[in-house]
Amino acid sequence: MLTVHGLGGGYGDLAVLQDIDLEVGAGSLQVVLGRNGAGKTSLLSAVAGLLPTVRSGTISIDGRDITGLPAHRRAAAGVGLVQEGKRVFRSRTVEENLLLGTYSSAGWSMRSPARKKALAAAYDRFPVLEEKRSDRAGGLSGGQQQMLAIAQALAAEPSVLLLDEPSAGLAPAVRTEVFRTVRQLRDEGLAVVVVEQLVDVALDVADRVAVLDSGRIVSSGPPEDYRDGELLQEIYLGSG
Ligand SMILES: Nc1ncnc2c1ncn2[C@@H]1O[C@H](COP(=O)(O)OP(=O)(O)OP(=O)(O)O)[C@@H](O)[C@H]1O
Ligand SMILES: [Mg+2]
Repeated sequence: MLTVHGLGGGYGDLAVLQDIDLEVGAGSLQVVLGRNGAGKTSLLSAVAGLLPTVRSGTISIDGRDITGLPAHRRAAAGVGLVQEGKRVFRSRTVEENLLLGTYSSAGWSMRSPARKKALAAAYDRFPVLEEKRSDRAGGLSGGQQQMLAIAQALAAEPSVLLLDEPSAGLAPAVRTEVFRTVRQLRDEGLAVVVVEQLVDVALDVADRVAVLDSGRIVSSGPPEDYRDGELLQEIYLGSG
């Protein structure tokens, strides 16, 4: 489980996140909502060890404090990040992209059993990636690239998975497929944090919702609290 306590930080002198508390249990799906520039991506970056400046607070996984660890050691400790915009290496093959995901968990030997196992698990979960294992990732459809990005993150066997707008720019049917996968991962016991712009989609998949505004969590609760739209309207329009 992921625990964030009193987290503050940003980019050099620019303070973005302030006093963030967040608890995401194993097998739970936390959605983070908020306007453009609210700090959603910065929050995921902070957990993954990619925010340039962390001024205060702690981040821990299953009680282990990872606040001071660099990104690659957080990955080894169980933090997986799927960044915005289907970040895959487009000129590399599908399989090369997947192999890149395995370094923190399987070491550097190309023939390690752990690496083989990770590949097999990825192909088992996403059969289309096996069909296209030798194709350049740039030739995949948008949805397939997002699946590849998720599969790459999973190859490191994270216990906490962070996804930044995983369905952005995808057609509704593909979006549904992405979220089916995300739910499945939650059901398999991962602690999942998803940033999502589409409120309806977010409320549909969330176990818990947190709303960020100006780098603070201004509201949190179960999705039911937000369904009638009033609360969100208040938050989104109120303080702007
Ligand atoms: N690399 C950076 N250097 C300096 N400031 C940044 C950087 N990235 C983001 N910011 C600033 O931090 C604040 C939060 O940005 P962030 O990207 O976390 O918001 P977001 O909620 O993810 O927005 P969006 O919905 O547009 O993705 C914004 O004011 C933004 O301008
Ligand atoms: Mg963002």
